[in-house]
Amino acid sequence: MKLLRFSLLPILLAMLPTAPPWSVPASASVPSPDAAAGAFLVAHRGASAYAPEHTLAAYRLAMAQGADYVEQDLTLTKDGVLVCLHDDTLERTTDVEARFPDRAVTERGADGRPVKRWYADDFTLAEIKTLDAGSWFDARFAGERIVTLEEAIVLTKGKVGIFPELKSPARLNAREGVDVERAVADALTTQGLVGAQVKGRPAVYLQSFEEKSVRRLAEILPAVPRTFLIGDPKGAAKWLTPDGFREVKTFATAVSPARVLIEARPALVADAHAAGVAVVPYTFRQARGTGAPEREAAVAAMRRFVFDLQVDGLFTDNPDLFPR
Ligand code: G3P
Ligand code: CA
Repeated sequence: MKLLRFSLLPILLAMLPTAPPWSVPASASVPSPDAAAGAFLVAHRGASAYAPEHTLAAYRLAMAQGADYVEQDLTLTKDGVLVCLHDDTLERTTDVEARFPDRAVTERGADGRPVKRWYADDFTLAEIKTLDAGSWFDARFAGERIVTLEEAIVLTKGKVGIFPELKSPARLNAREGVDVERAVADALTTQGLVGAQVKGRPAVYLQSFEEKSVRRLAEILPAVPRTFLIGDPKGAAKWLTPDGFREVKTFATAVSPARVLIEARPALVADAHAAGVAVVPYTFRQARGTGAPEREAAVAAMRRFVFDLQVDGLFTDNPDLFPR
């Protein structure tokens, strides 16, 4: 299928009056991923199958394994520093419970029982930097730290792209004085990444599950491509349709559906491309501790999405398994 894809592309291009539709950005100045370069690899939380997510160890390994982009999920510390953390809270991936036992808030869990949470934005960067973000994954990674966005940029700049996701932006912005989209825009601008390229692709690709946040990013960072994450059937019914894609095109350059949503309706990839919207599904992985059959299944799934379904990129925990 790979040969077919590349052999047909020049013919298809010649039939079009302009560039292929999925290269047409939401904003005229936005560089889009080049379909001719093949699908791109986003290392999901770094090479998170092999190293603790969002640590320098995971990011370095992702780069060594050939990632085109390294993902950062972003939140803000109490003192307004962007840090790379998937959860709003610290207890799953650090030793915060042992180090700061009295700093939790108590909430109701899914089962109705009280549960303690340590929100990252209740802690300063100096406090967060004392936490061990590696031991939960494996003792070999003891002492890994939570990484700031700036540190992630310093590590990757000029070598691979970054793929920051704004996590819970509405919740953060509800705090007095917080403007997380502006904070991200300022960080990228300061680092000279707006409009920059790495190996022929945009150096930054932004993402969020929150429509309002993606729309705001389109306004304040029109030169940076951005993908709208869709995680459930309700979102799919609203957005992953020809009409939905036409609306998405007004504020995003791509959609990122959970892969099961594409498995349920593979034709949505062609519908998105017809509307000029790229498709970058998540997440492909071989579960930790599993063997050769699971590894082969992960490779086969990625091959199907890249070469048969023709997605523009995908997120994986296993960059070494990405098909080229
Ligand atoms: O951002 C794409 C994918 O990472 C979304 O899922 O929960 O891992 O951030 P999550
Ligand atoms: Ca993410």
